[in-house]
Amino acid sequence: MGHVSVLLDEILGFVPSSVKEGGLLDVTAGGGGHFFAILKAHPLWKGECWDRDPDAVLRIQQKGVDFEGRYQFVAKEFSKEAAPESKFDFILADLGISSFQLDDPRRGLSFYSEAPLDFRMNVGEGPSAQEWLAQKSIKDLEDILIKFGEEKSYRRISEALKKLGPDEFSSAQKATSFLMKELRLSHKQGTLHPLTRTYQALRIAVNDELGELQSFLTWAPRHLKKGGRLAIISFHSLEDRKVKRAFESLSDEGFNILTTKALTPTEEEVIQNPRSRSAKLRIIERMI
Ligand SMILES: C[S@@+](CC[C@H](N)C(=O)[O-])C[C@H]1O[C@@H](n2cnc3c(N)ncnc32)[C@H](O)[C@@H]1O
Repeated sequence: MGHVSVLLDEILGFVPSSVKEGGLLDVTAGGGGHFFAILKAHPLWKGECWDRDPDAVLRIQQKGVDFEGRYQFVAKEFSKEAAPESKFDFILADLGISSFQLDDPRRGLSFYSEAPLDFRMNVGEGPSAQEWLAQKSIKDLEDILIKFGEEKSYRRISEALKKLGPDEFSSAQKATSFLMKELRLSHKQGTLHPLTRTYQALRIAVNDELGELQSFLTWAPRHLKKGGRLAIISFHSLEDRKVKRAFESLSDEGFNILTTKALTPTEEEVIQNPRSRSAKLRIIERMI
């Protein structure tokens, strides 16, 4: 299964169509869905796309065959600023992980994967999940589960996480089974997996996803041309809150908020792509 781009029509509708030879920056290339759809709709535009996951380059190369000479891919985190002289007409960040990453059995991002339990988007970067968990106290884990997972059973889960040993880390499936047994949980088919919030919180923390977003919000608006737009799709309330606050303070500094209320997917989109369920889109425009 590929990745279905979320809120694609809405994104396409906000790309400034009066700009003929525009410049696009997509800092979350993923499968290139949004990126190439924008280049296709605007044949004279050129673009740059980034991803911290080095595997993204292969997907982008495959999808980009019809766009040779119009784009470049850079393996990089979006916390790192664009080149000082580069200014864009449209900047996009579609946060979180792609379905490619979630469905990739080598990554251990899904509950029953045979791959080692490792929440990194780039396994060559930073400590593994096992090393990372070893550095955290039960109190640290409790804070993470509350803050990033809004998990009510944070105490029991933190204690169980500290009991994971090398054998459990060797496969996500073993870790999941161990935690389910330790916490006396069961999973009814068709309902949210009881460890969803836990794994989400760990992924956010291991990848420093909120720190990445904070840094991005400080540099991205300055890299818009006059009339240029910055669009951010977020998938949980902590991210959306950060985007909302940053945009509100920019509205005193020559930026116009184009989405007073965050845009969300239609019912039809949610039915077709349940992963779009929690998406929120906010957009600002540079006025001066
Ligand atoms: C939801 S997917 C993007 C999907 C893409 N918009 C599409 O339509 O195919 C998010 C992508 O952002 C990447 N990503 C997440 N955090 C990142 C960061 N801090 N810096 C760069 N890329 C990041 C992930 O590796 C993933 O490939």
